[in-house]
Amino acid sequence: MDGVVYLDNAATSHPKPPAVLEAMRDAIERIGASPGRGGHRQAIEAGRAVFHCRAAVAELIGALEPERVAFTKNATEAINVGLCGVLRPGDRVVTTDIEHNAMWRPLCRLARAGVGVDVVPAETDGTVDPERMLRAIGEGTRLVALTHASNVLGALVEVRPIAAAAHAAGALLLLDAAQTLGEWPLDVEDLGIDLLAAPGHKGLLGPQGTGFLYVGPRVEAIEPLAVGGTGSRSEEEEQPDVLPDRLESGTLNLPGIAGLSAALAYLAQQGGEARANVRQRTAELATGLSEIGGVRLLGPREHTVRAGLVTFTVGQADSEDVAADLDQRGVACRGGLHCAPQGHRKAGTIDRGAVRFSPGPFTSAEDVATAIRAVHAVAREVLP
Ligand SMILES: Cc1ncc(COP(=O)(O)O)c(C=O)c1O
Repeated sequence: MDGVVYLDNAATSHPKPPAVLEAMRDAIERIGASPGRGGHRQAIEAGRAVFHCRAAVAELIGALEPERVAFTKNATEAINVGLCGVLRPGDRVVTTDIEHNAMWRPLCRLARAGVGVDVVPAETDGTVDPERMLRAIGEGTRLVALTHASNVLGALVEVRPIAAAAHAAGALLLLDAAQTLGEWPLDVEDLGIDLLAAPGHKGLLGPQGTGFLYVGPRVEAIEPLAVGGTGSRSEEEEQPDVLPDRLESGTLNLPGIAGLSAALAYLAQQGGEARANVRQRTAELATGLSEIGGVRLLGPREHTVRAGLVTFTVGQADSEDVAADLDQRGVACRGGLHCAPQGHRKAGTIDRGAVRFSPGPFTSAEDVATAIRAVHAVAREVLP
């Protein structure tokens, strides 16, 4: 919207690079057909477009085989497929107490179905002590599942030692990269990530309705959440074993995937600049907010190890009221619990939530100044 400073990129990035829109339009207008279905030229081109995106995702995350990338409609679906795909009653899973509901709710459901869930407390700023994780990982652990950065606290989790401990115990590592992929490098081979769940529509700058699950070679078997048409082995009653077909039932979101391809091409060219901008603006927001009396920042003090988001409270004011007030002043941001009550319990903000500013590659220094001025004005209104 014209004249609005959009600081809700942690929910979904906006605006998208213009090439994303063009690719989506082309997919609908010109390609049109269903990928992996039919042998006519349009269908073949649709299949190629999907493969192209799969290969681009694999390249981004350092995956050796593009077939190990299965498209989903968002990160939530990818996490669900990862968790429910490998955990069985009697297994144990180690996680943290700052997980987003995308992880927490499926884990609670799995716990009711007989999966043991061991919850390791994170620090109040959202950092996770690898030693604590190591102590919790034991012989019965089948999976270690955690976020790379909480969408409330923003602190980055150190993946490498946790992955090493998981593997030493014969377990797998599932990482929720919803708040980091695109902004922080994540190489699945190098870090030892067995299951990587990510949205296409946040830091990767793709359209809503896109996401993926990477399934690494250590994952010997994965059960799909949904079974059905895959365009392959149609004569068989069982879902194919082969990836990505095993996890991709039904017609894929071709316009979304084509858009994601264009977004990945954009990031391949401009990613360095985009990342630098997000970090710079995040640091400016954190500094500007910390100078306002009555404003309390959540998360780590060190801005260099955080995802591109800053969460804060203004006195005792309800965060939804503050966010609504900011919206009236032309700043689009999110108040409340951000679908992550766990993070708010940790920060002591479960009763009134917090306001979150999350800049993107296109956020300018002027946007930051506008947002900080708006918080000053709100603080003058609501503080005694
Ligand atoms: C840490 C985290 N995990 C998972 C999700 C879910 O992402 P999606 O909206 O793509 O399902 C989010 C979304 O905000 C998130 O912040």
